[in-house]
Amino acid sequence: MAQDNFMSFRRHRYLKLAVGLVCLCIVLYVRDTPPVKPGGGTWLGYGLGTLGALLILFLLAFGMRKRAYNSQLGSVRGWLSAHVYLGIALALVATLHAAFEFGWNIHTLAYALTIVVILSGFWGMVLYLRQPTRMSNLLDGLTLQQIGEKLTEIDDRCKMLAAKLDAKTQALVAESAKCQIFSSYWQRLTGHNRSCATKRVLAQMGMDSSQGSKEHNEIYTLQLRRSQQLNRIREFVRLRTWTEIWLLCHVPLSIALLMALIAHIVSVFFYW
Ligand code: HEM
Repeated sequence: MAQDNFMSFRRHRYLKLAVGLVCLCIVLYVRDTPPVKPGGGTWLGYGLGTLGALLILFLLAFGMRKRAYNSQLGSVRGWLSAHVYLGIALALVATLHAAFEFGWNIHTLAYALTIVVILSGFWGMVLYLRQPTRMSNLLDGLTLQQIGEKLTEIDDRCKMLAAKLDAKTQALVAESAKCQIFSSYWQRLTGHNRSCATKRVLAQMGMDSSQGSKEHNEIYTLQLRRSQQLNRIREFVRLRTWTEIWLLCHVPLSIALLMALIAHIVSVFFYW
């Protein structure tokens, strides 16, 4: 069964709306026979330009709707669905508004930024479609804090067991407990920590397996579990970091687009 997500919201309501809008714009554009060269300056051009500007304002308003927790203005899911489909439709509306005429000017800058924001939106869409399930699977329904508590439990148990063993094992257990999730931002992006103390300790204990005591074996098993939990946390943080980075591109680009749009509209009316 297809998974229900924001793309299929209310039986693809906004997909249908966007397709209808796109078809209407294409029909109007093809049938239009302006007395001057087609472009932003014809009646249809003004109409498409107004529609495009309204769409951009609506897409920007999503940021406010997301944070208006008490709003009665439709669900955030519905807004996101509309955001994605109408955002994609905007690419065609803006292209027809420009009538495929581009140059080195503020008008084309506004157009280019529109396309760049839309393209960045696709990247976000893929992240949002794939990540929620992957992220909750990684944490097994637990919160990051609960996983952290489980690690502390493992460390306490290992410390207790190691107290019955030699100083070397105690040092290894202490070293592993200090292991950082990541020690650089680059590691957050890749999700790997090559200098992971727990992995080092595991390798060391693997070599020491000649000890073979009950405590030693239990510590080894617990360290193995610790390493698995750390890997899950690392993957979770990696996915969350990429989502944050994406928003750090999408939102400032949207603001830049708003500025360029204002400049475009002002310049059009100034030179009119
Ligand atoms: C000119 C076009 C667009 C503008 C101005 C725009 C603007 C925005 C803004 C302001 C936000 C809210 C971010 C926040 O405050 O957290 C947002 C979120 C988002 N946008 Fe866009 N966007 C555009 C097009 C698109 C397109 C075409 C897509 C997908 C194909 C898309 C996908 C998303 C997604 C997935 C989010 C995140 C939703 C969330 O955090 O829950 N955007 N966009």
